[in-house]
Amino acid sequence: MLKGISRTLGSAALAGVLLLSEVASAADEPGNAIAQKIGLPWPAVIAHRGASYDAPEETVASYTLARELGADYLEMDIQRTKDGVLIALHDDTLERTTNVAEVYPNRARQPLSSFTLEEIKRLDAGSWFNKAYPDRARPSYAGLKILTLDEVIDIAEGGKNKPGLYIETKVPAQFPGIEADLRKQLQQRGWLSQRPAAQKGYVNTAHMPGRVVLQTFEKQSLELLHKSMPNVPKVLLLWLGEGSIQASTDATFKTSGAKDKATFYASQQVKSKAEFEAWMDWAKAHGAVGTGPASALKNGGDQSYMDLVQPWMNKMAHDRAMVVHPYTVDDAVDFKEISSHGVDGFFTNRTSELLKFYGRASKESIDSILKRNGF
Ligand code: G3P
Ligand code: CA
Repeated sequence: MLKGISRTLGSAALAGVLLLSEVASAADEPGNAIAQKIGLPWPAVIAHRGASYDAPEETVASYTLARELGADYLEMDIQRTKDGVLIALHDDTLERTTNVAEVYPNRARQPLSSFTLEEIKRLDAGSWFNKAYPDRARPSYAGLKILTLDEVIDIAEGGKNKPGLYIETKVPAQFPGIEADLRKQLQQRGWLSQRPAAQKGYVNTAHMPGRVVLQTFEKQSLELLHKSMPNVPKVLLLWLGEGSIQASTDATFKTSGAKDKATFYASQQVKSKAEFEAWMDWAKAHGAVGTGPASALKNGGDQSYMDLVQPWMNKMAHDRAMVVHPYTVDDAVDFKEISSHGVDGFFTNRTSELLKFYGRASKESIDSILKRNGF
């Protein structure tokens, strides 16, 4: 508890944005004590696919920027190439975030698992971002490569800030044995046995028991992760619908008549408190130290899902000594509203904004960090 207070006090004094009363109430949050017991930063700033609002997701640019800004964790989705290499990629195909359609016109819709590492390293994983977000485009993003897990570890270790890794097994059913592969590689890199300390004043997640957090939507993958790495903190990601928590109706976006997906998701409710409670109990019984719930955002948009961060839900997690890390939240209005429901950090594409909200704003600008690192 004391460690959390001093961290928050130090940050508040630095940025001058939190009132003393707010600091005191933050220290009293149930999730704060739970996080300290597990050995996790609180509140946690989880850089979702890196600083992916400002640079192409899961590339050296987005992860380096997140590290330099001061994120506690670099978040990544792992998958496995045809020749068995663990890589960082969200979608299970390469279409959205690479030029696969130009390089391999007949294979554009094939799963990542059908490509070798050498094949995917020929792809450009940055130019799509420049086209999609011209206001944030940089010539240096063109030609960025998909990263291996090894390369993401190099980035996490490579600066004065020492963030942890928050690793999701993505579509794990496509990759039998990926949980054991992950353990092997983390072990080889010393990430399961060593906790190097950062210099004073820098992000120090690497020194905490929660240096690595493992996350998954899939119950079976959670079980396998727990079997492979029983002592590594694990988080069960939460969703409403088939294969996940049961909703109160069978409505789909198409049958609902909702104007957009965000509106449909916002209308979705859990079937019952007992259904939600059963998931909390299952998560706890199978090794989870936290949940990663979907959340609804005030202004909608592609990342606005169902509201699984209602106060009673967060209390159920806390009552079971689990922390709550909602995804994926980028705006101050949502940081404030969802925090008031009792959560313990966020997955965010906008590391800089969340750090600002927590009174830990980076002293260096995004532009300066990117330029200093060759972008
Ligand atoms: O891992 C938490 C969050 O990232 C889940 O959503 O689809 O972005 O991986 P997704
Ligand atoms: Ca993820």
